[in-house]
Amino acid sequence: MCGIFGIVTKEEQQLGPTLIEVGHRLSYRGYDTVGAATIPQAGKVDLRKDVGKVQEVADRLNFEEMAGQRAILQLRWATFGAPSYTNAQPHLDSDGDMVGAHNGNVVNNVELRQQFIAEGMTVRSENDGESCVHAVERYVDQGDDIISAIRKAYHDLEGDYAFVVGRLGEDKLYAIKKGSGLVAGVTDDLTCIASDLPSILPITREIVRLNDGEIITFWAGGYEICNVEDGSLVERAPELVEDSIEIVQKGGYDHFMLKEIHEQAQVAGELFHLLENSSDIESMIAKLKAARNIYIIACGTSYHAGLLGSIYFANLAERVTIPVLAPQFIAHYVPTVGPEDVGIFVSQSGETKDVLNAIQAAEKRGMGVLGLVNVVGSSLMRASEYYVPLACGYEISVPATKTFTNQVVGFLYLALKLGGHETAALANLPQWIDATIEAVERQIPSVEGKISPWDDLYCLGYGLTYPIALEGALKLKEITYAHCEGMLSTEFKHGPLSAVTEGYPVIFVAGPDDTSLIVSGINEVTCRGGRAIAIGEEDARLRANADDLIVIPTIEAPDWLRPHIVALLSVLPLQLLSYRISLARGFDPDFPRNLSKTLTVD
Ligand code: AGP
Repeated sequence: MCGIFGIVTKEEQQLGPTLIEVGHRLSYRGYDTVGAATIPQAGKVDLRKDVGKVQEVADRLNFEEMAGQRAILQLRWATFGAPSYTNAQPHLDSDGDMVGAHNGNVVNNVELRQQFIAEGMTVRSENDGESCVHAVERYVDQGDDIISAIRKAYHDLEGDYAFVVGRLGEDKLYAIKKGSGLVAGVTDDLTCIASDLPSILPITREIVRLNDGEIITFWAGGYEICNVEDGSLVERAPELVEDSIEIVQKGGYDHFMLKEIHEQAQVAGELFHLLENSSDIESMIAKLKAARNIYIIACGTSYHAGLLGSIYFANLAERVTIPVLAPQFIAHYVPTVGPEDVGIFVSQSGETKDVLNAIQAAEKRGMGVLGLVNVVGSSLMRASEYYVPLACGYEISVPATKTFTNQVVGFLYLALKLGGHETAALANLPQWIDATIEAVERQIPSVEGKISPWDDLYCLGYGLTYPIALEGALKLKEITYAHCEGMLSTEFKHGPLSAVTEGYPVIFVAGPDDTSLIVSGINEVTCRGGRAIAIGEEDARLRANADDLIVIPTIEAPDWLRPHIVALLSVLPLQLLSYRISLARGFDPDFPRNLSKTLTVD
């Protein structure tokens, strides 16, 4: 997730220190290159950018000395084009008198670049931020004023983004919002814009929130907003934001966990677009096709995503994979692996010591290393020959939620590709995820009280929902401190059934293909006085047999694909249920006792 910042001040001044400070504040979003530009009235744009961390790049390129009245800063998290000087933002137009940067994804970037080259523009990078600049340049060159050019460019640039741009010889900057975050801040002496509120709150608390389809023209101490469709002016006075930075960082949610649960639709959509445009996917698929054995290696939540991924590979690509917990990979398989084998290492942080140990052991045997990883520049990312970047931005809450979802989306995408299937249906993921969260949030309050008093419970699934049951049980254990065991539903009768007493809660996660089997499991519990809480699509059998049913909205997807998506959606009620029970039991779901977000110890 990239971040942008733009500022216009009344007096010419050293803007470097502000750019560095804002860079640090935006860095939580995840990035791999940093760039800044100051734009004088006359002369040349001072553009400095490179690969690396904010402080490293700022020190190397002496951002501190950058001066002027107008500046743009960008932190780029690589989507189109590898992390490099050339692909780093901001970008210049063909003759260097306009500079801009964006945050988001322009999904028709490849086609646009070809058009710009054919039209004679100087295209220097593969990056879609540069396409935003040329899309405006195209119309400016045809004689349009800058606002008309931005309005026309908006229609050429497909996808979700926010974009800031400025030209030599002016005292203004311009920014547009389409799907990605963009807010403005104003004082008597300056106006600034940024991808998010926390990054500008230390500068000003007079905030103007922008809506999609709005262009803001801003100058020192003032601004004007217009509608991109008809150019009409929009009246909007600044509002005073008095919340603390921490509250603002939580985006209006009570906890990071709830915010991150709600971000899942957006990050899944972003990952899908990224994968559709990734040049590495074909290489990954080729590597998987050529492999003798494929191992999926991870810990905790990431392991559960890998377990579901392994089922996806079997069902959708008829490819056997071996999911294994990272330390057990060393103990069990390392002596047998070699250069003809491939490991898909899965880790949100990319720094889990158990996973890094497994990579080291695999590398010693010459085994291929692929990655599914969220943190850019992490050890796993650096060790991987090819990787799927999870594109979730920072996940602050200790319980993994959005990174699990995107790990599963990554596996689903790879399995579809490996099996030679169309991936287009995955474009609906954001809509399916949002609909599920909305529906489930209404239902959880009537169920949570039946579970929250219990210190012991089970969460059962079968087939595609087995890894989801394990993940649900982990979430419940992690933040409610109740013992919840995740298990294959059919195993319950082989011993654990003896735990059932009057009202004892057992959660059943029912996939559409396995409902009959789940229903018999439900009856084994209810006939002994236990309470069966089912999660699944609306189904007369679940409705009639379970004590409670948390309904996942029925999605429209091809029959062969639907159960795979339903499994993914089934984790959402379990995340929300865990969150609510954690609160009911008086705990802080973001920072559960004894746990750490990244486990860098053996
Ligand atoms: C999940 O909620 C946990 N925080 C934990 O199980 C986590 O998934 C595990 O420690 C692995 O971390 P990683 O994905 O960063 O490697």
